[in-house]
Amino acid sequence: MERYILELKDVSMRFEDAEALTGINLKIKHKEFVTLLGPSGCGKSTMLRILGGFLTPTSGKVLFDGKDITDLPAYQRKLNTVFQKYALFPHLNTFDNIAFGLKIKKLPNDVIKEKVKAMLKLVNLEGFERRRVQFLSGGQQQRVAIARALVNEPEVLLLDEPLGALDLQLRKDMQLELKRMQQRLGITFLYVTHDQEEALTMSDRIIVMKEGVIQQDDTPIKVYNEPINHYVADFIGEANMLYGVMRDDYAVECESLIWRCTDRGYEKDQFIELVIRPEDLEMVPEGQGKAHGIVESVVFKGVHYEIVVRDDTGYDWIVQNTKNAEIGSRMGIDFSDDAIQIMKVSPEYMLPAVIEQAGRKIEGELWITQDSEDYVKSGSGKLDTRFRLHTDSQGKHITTVYAEDIRRTWVLRTDEQLYGTDPIIIRYGSGADAPDDAEVR
Ligand SMILES: Nc1ncnc2c1ncn2[C@@H]1O[C@H](COP(=O)(O)OP(=O)(O)O)[C@@H](O)[C@H]1O
Ligand SMILES: [Mg+2]
Repeated sequence: MERYILELKDVSMRFEDAEALTGINLKIKHKEFVTLLGPSGCGKSTMLRILGGFLTPTSGKVLFDGKDITDLPAYQRKLNTVFQKYALFPHLNTFDNIAFGLKIKKLPNDVIKEKVKAMLKLVNLEGFERRRVQFLSGGQQQRVAIARALVNEPEVLLLDEPLGALDLQLRKDMQLELKRMQQRLGITFLYVTHDQEEALTMSDRIIVMKEGVIQQDDTPIKVYNEPINHYVADFIGEANMLYGVMRDDYAVECESLIWRCTDRGYEKDQFIELVIRPEDLEMVPEGQGKAHGIVESVVFKGVHYEIVVRDDTGYDWIVQNTKNAEIGSRMGIDFSDDAIQIMKVSPEYMLPAVIEQAGRKIEGELWITQDSEDYVKSGSGKLDTRFRLHTDSQGKHITTVYAEDIRRTWVLRTDEQLYGTDPIIIRYGSGADAPDDAEVR
């Protein structure tokens, strides 16, 4: 049986007004570099504080090396935390800041000296021992904070956005340095960041979080190339995401075309979402390739151009290419079969809807997906949209519609087919049965 240095079992954390973590299960191996990644407020720090012993979870267990430490106080845990605000002692010099924990433990002076010296070498601060930390640069202070945590020789280091306050170049240098230290010392790192690039370059494993729930737990390559859902694909890098239907193994219908892909095992005619990374797209003359459209914008990004091509269904493709393109020109977009990654559409919820189009009223349901949920927060309302694309899936008509003003795509599922021409009004939720200005049916 595999041994884990750290484990969270069904951990939930409730504050008075909010559930910060829900049903977290996590296993971390010895010497692993694991990163918690997600936007501000998704529960990363809460998780770290529970592991560090600064918070007791509302429910669930924390294990260290297989032993339950849920109720063990912070100072008895064999781990150390580096916080974003590094809380050094400003009136002490570099040496005394690093030596602080060892002095409290009352280690002999010569041992302290030796250990601190080794740390100074490790974090590349030899010669700065007598400098007061308030006169060190941000990067140097951060290295003192890391040295201060490492000098206690913890088996696990928890790091909460430790590089957040540094500017870009320094952050990149420190990323490499931290990774090197972690490998050299063989310490388990649990690292928190909201920076996807940082997570991708440093980690053995990335845990992507959203609103207190783990979305995906995978290697950086898998999280990038095989995101499990819209949220992960969107959070990690740029992504072209389109709706489609799996017509067969290795065959997806998208934008009324059949594209080959490498995915199989989906239900026949299952409605799916697919993602294609901008760097996997090639620009080709119009008439060639798998999609085509008009160049809307071109932005020079240093290594490549970022080109937006609006196709005939109104979808804006993001293309990254080393070649320039002319705004207003028409071109084709091509990609290989394995550039397509199929994802399950995971509606957050579905609401009953009455769809009004050209005097018709059609009953159906509105899918609140990850693309649109930030707009529809409550249970009922009205949306003005336009037809974008129709497909049929498992006996139902599926129409994606688009609201120009808020730039959001919605999914409708109906028994009757919608037209491609006329504007569409959607009344959804509890208001759908009885629109205020007309009677249904
Ligand atoms: N002590 C607290 N009391 C009440 N709510 C809290 C407390 N700490 C965190 N929260 C809430 O829990 C959620 C997660 O916060 P946090 O773990 O700090 O997120 P992150 O580190 O990912 O930005 C947020 O909604 C935050 O407001
Ligand atoms: Mg935080």
